[in-house]
Amino acid sequence: MQFEEGTTLDRFLMESLRDHPEASGQFVNLLNQVTLAGKLVAARVNRAGLAGMFGATGQMNIQGEYVQKMDIYANETFKRALEHAGVVCMIVSEEEDAPIGIPAPFVPGHYVFCMDPLDGSSNIDTNASIGTIFCAFRRKSDPSGPPTAEDALRSGREIVLAGYIVYGAGTVLVLSTGKGVHGFTLDPTVGEFFLSHPDIRLEPSTKSYSCNEAYSAQWDPRLRAWLEARKEPSLGWSSRYIGSLVGDFHRNLVKGGIFLYPPSQKAKAGKLRLLYEGFPLAFLVEAAGGAASDGQQAILDKVPKSLHERSPLYIGNRDEVASITEALRGD
Ligand code: AHG
Ligand code: MN
Ligand code: MN
Repeated sequence: MQFEEGTTLDRFLMESLRDHPEASGQFVNLLNQVTLAGKLVAARVNRAGLAGMFGATGQMNIQGEYVQKMDIYANETFKRALEHAGVVCMIVSEEEDAPIGIPAPFVPGHYVFCMDPLDGSSNIDTNASIGTIFCAFRRKSDPSGPPTAEDALRSGREIVLAGYIVYGAGTVLVLSTGKGVHGFTLDPTVGEFFLSHPDIRLEPSTKSYSCNEAYSAQWDPRLRAWLEARKEPSLGWSSRYIGSLVGDFHRNLVKGGIFLYPPSQKAKAGKLRLLYEGFPLAFLVEAAGGAASDGQQAILDKVPKSLHERSPLYIGNRDEVASITEALRGD
């Protein structure tokens, strides 16, 4: 299906769902609530320095990280937009120890929503790209009872929707239901997302890498050798690293690149969380023709044992993910 410039997100969704008569209105409504929350967070991010939104709250979250004011604002905004809309039965958030149920009098819906409400917190005060990352599953448990942990602790292959909103020079929503990856740019003058990146596809390989090389002395020596080999000048590789996963991933999705966050002394299982960072981006990258691995297996083949489980993450053009996984095989 071809879409021309100027296609709004609403029109894109209506036409995409035309061959899904079984799709309930809940899917479109879920996305409408996500985009509403995204617009509200974007407006606050763009004025963060003026709205007293810089800096930390002084609290520490379950991740052992200092919570920034913007983390809380984004978390509350997405929760409020979703909990009353009758579209989700449970919300898993990086900022919440336990899953959030749907409070009475609101009615639970079909979907389990997993989110990193504000990714790249260390960059909030620096005006570098930050974002919201999310994925959704259809509820598995009996809808007549309360949702269960099994509704969220499941294979990445059961994801039905994944996406992110990157709050950068512009606000861009990138999403996929598994068939193609599409980007929509917010026109703040009219408050509407318009199709700007139809059918994003990744080339088989790249010559750009993203990682925090300060930790490379702590990596598996085979990984260090993999990276050093690519610094041979005649190969023409470059490096880009923002320090916001969502910003680094978006650049790599649009221009090609391999992102690496290996285990380190400080983060023995890797730093990034599987359910609301690794899974959504792995779903998107595979839908765009790329790959995502933890060094041993495909990220989407994993089943988290706990909500905030961390995982090593190697994600981007498929040839580089394959060669890293090959280098690390048999850990
Ligand atoms: P979050 O702000 O949601 O905690 O995520 C931060 C993550 C991710 O955005 C980024 O790739 C990574 O932290 C950067 O880690 P280092 O500062 O260790 O490089
Ligand atoms: Mn994050
Ligand atoms: Mn976060």
